[in-house]
Amino acid sequence: MTTTTTGTRSTAKGATGTAHTRVEGRDKVTGAARYAGEIPFADLAHGWLVVSTVARGRIRSIDTAPVLAQPGVLAVLHHENAPRVETDYVGMLGVPDPTCAVFQHDRVPHLGWPVALVVAETSEQAREAAETLVVHYEQESHDVEFSSARPDAYPADGYMPAVAEKGDLEAELVASDAIVDEEYTTPEEHHGMMEPHAATALWDGGRLEVVDSNQGATWVVGELAKMFSLDPASVRVRSEHVGGGFGSKGVRAHQVAAVMAATVLHRPVRVVMTRRQMFSLTGYRSPTAQRVRLGADADGRLRALEHRSLNLTSTVHEFIESAAGPARVMYDADAHHTANRVVRLDVPTPTYMRAPGEAPGSFALESALDELAEKCGLDPIELRLRNEPERGPVSGLPFSSRNLPACFREGARRFGWADRDPRPGLRREGRWLLGTGTAAASFGAGAGPSTAVATAEPDGTFTVRIAAADIGTGARTALTLIAADALEVSPDRVRVRIGDSDFGPAMIAGGSMGTRSWGWAVMTAATELRGRLALGADIPPEGITVRSDTTAAVGALARKERHSFGAQFAEVAVDVTTGEVRVRRMLGIFAAGRIVNPLTARSQLIGGMIWGISMALHEEAIRDRATGGLYGADLAGYHVATHADVPFVEADWVDDPDPDDPVGIKGIGEIGIVGAAAAVANAVWHATGVRHRNLPIRPDRVL
Ligand code: MOS
Repeated sequence: MTTTTTGTRSTAKGATGTAHTRVEGRDKVTGAARYAGEIPFADLAHGWLVVSTVARGRIRSIDTAPVLAQPGVLAVLHHENAPRVETDYVGMLGVPDPTCAVFQHDRVPHLGWPVALVVAETSEQAREAAETLVVHYEQESHDVEFSSARPDAYPADGYMPAVAEKGDLEAELVASDAIVDEEYTTPEEHHGMMEPHAATALWDGGRLEVVDSNQGATWVVGELAKMFSLDPASVRVRSEHVGGGFGSKGVRAHQVAAVMAATVLHRPVRVVMTRRQMFSLTGYRSPTAQRVRLGADADGRLRALEHRSLNLTSTVHEFIESAAGPARVMYDADAHHTANRVVRLDVPTPTYMRAPGEAPGSFALESALDELAEKCGLDPIELRLRNEPERGPVSGLPFSSRNLPACFREGARRFGWADRDPRPGLRREGRWLLGTGTAAASFGAGAGPSTAVATAEPDGTFTVRIAAADIGTGARTALTLIAADALEVSPDRVRVRIGDSDFGPAMIAGGSMGTRSWGWAVMTAATELRGRLALGADIPPEGITVRSDTTAAVGALARKERHSFGAQFAEVAVDVTTGEVRVRRMLGIFAAGRIVNPLTARSQLIGGMIWGISMALHEEAIRDRATGGLYGADLAGYHVATHADVPFVEADWVDDPDPDDPVGIKGIGEIGIVGAAAAVANAVWHATGVRHRNLPIRPDRVL
């Protein structure tokens, strides 16, 4: 197995595979790049959301008159006067979260639910008025209590079947030589991206235009068109720069409220969410309670594997955090049972958050594997290698490629795993106990249909247009390199324009499928354009334009288990006097398809790994039983890993081009966080001899 060293060696001829700085990097660091909340519009009005202060009940009345009399106030929208929207439809990702269908009824399903939008000439006037708006509620008692013992939990599908079962679990457990049976929990976690959700809506010559910050212009067009009963062709969504998404930047209350206000007022209206509003209106990762039962022969071969996960959702929308999903891909067993369950509470609706399902699921499963290795007296890597499946354990499908063993071998070599004494609690350095841990990672490697437009300009440059979203990943730069190679020109002759639904339908930046799906369409269009130019065509003043549509090609992909894989390694030091855990170094080796731009790919992967440190040690949103809200719903109260918490983190990859993708891409958006928290937790066990099955591993839990 060959490896590439980050940023120094090419995996292919041409631009792809060599390190390139972001094409918009200079614009971003100089402030020239403008984000949704700061793009100027003539005659712009500003909306400010008012959210509920009770966790359950009804709106009895809203005292709009005093607020309407305040300076600059133009309107107060609420459930009695706002335009009606359609909510009964299936969108790009299924049934939408009705949290975004604001002001349609008087019910309050959770604290922080939007009850009104105050619109004024300036944002300050809107805020002042919104903060003085009095809303009367008929309060009802609420229930926000999440626990594994909820009798009202039920199995639910989400984006995979709720339950998958083969074999006789109890019989295989009885026949096993080594058994692990534990419960693992992960807390409520929030995305908290730097750029808050923001949108400006306006009507322009009969067309609705929304300037937004999202993960897919096509997605937002589709949802808004359905909600407002418009022809999708009469909706345009632009989203050129996005300051982080992580799964939460789809359709949210702010776009819908802005469209309503622009419709009522006949002028552009901007709605920007506050940081606190984001904690209740933009989704989050549900807490999970997971039970894992493993049974193995003395040689470590799995006879029984059970992974059951419970998450919470709101009373308005069913969102499933499919934490039992990774087991269906990672390990086979004679009896293999997995189930995702959910309980409905009076809380905001959770949503996709980086590696939904895999991030918390891998914590439980990969911790349990480590516990099984201990019981079998086997090295944790050896245990995993002995359980490498030939085919998808549940699906029975062949893997498109599965280079997990190569990740472990390369990672073990570089991390220095061979010298590791497996016994816990032995290494001491002053007041620090030292340990190392590992975990496996996987994430789906899919593709979605996209269209792209490639134009040869008369001046010898090329323009590529695609409704892609660069949410900070470097997608725009990756697409530039892919187009340059397909056109056989240097990247500085290629300009890639993204973030505009008028460029045609395209995949979202989600599911780790963005760059892969867009790259396919860009390569297809650019390759065909190059073919035309090779015929010696003269370039007319309007240029020569080629369009691609990958719907048929993507739809023709054979059914296989398509995944990226990885091996995570962590070294920790645990302070025996304070319980503080310091991660000293991390290494992640990934088999995640062809790497287009090693520079930004490395950033994407280490970003995920750092989030894994944060998940393992810091992050938890604590819901207050009395109010139904969160303690510290802001970036001061929500603890995340910062520079001082982040040591030397190294990410690299083994050669693993996807055999069925024209560029060879699999997707690296999410796999960096998968297994990272388990690697840290397993290292804490190795340091101290104590298992931590509840995240985060806070000092008070360590002591
Ligand atoms: Mo990702 S959680 O699919 O944006």
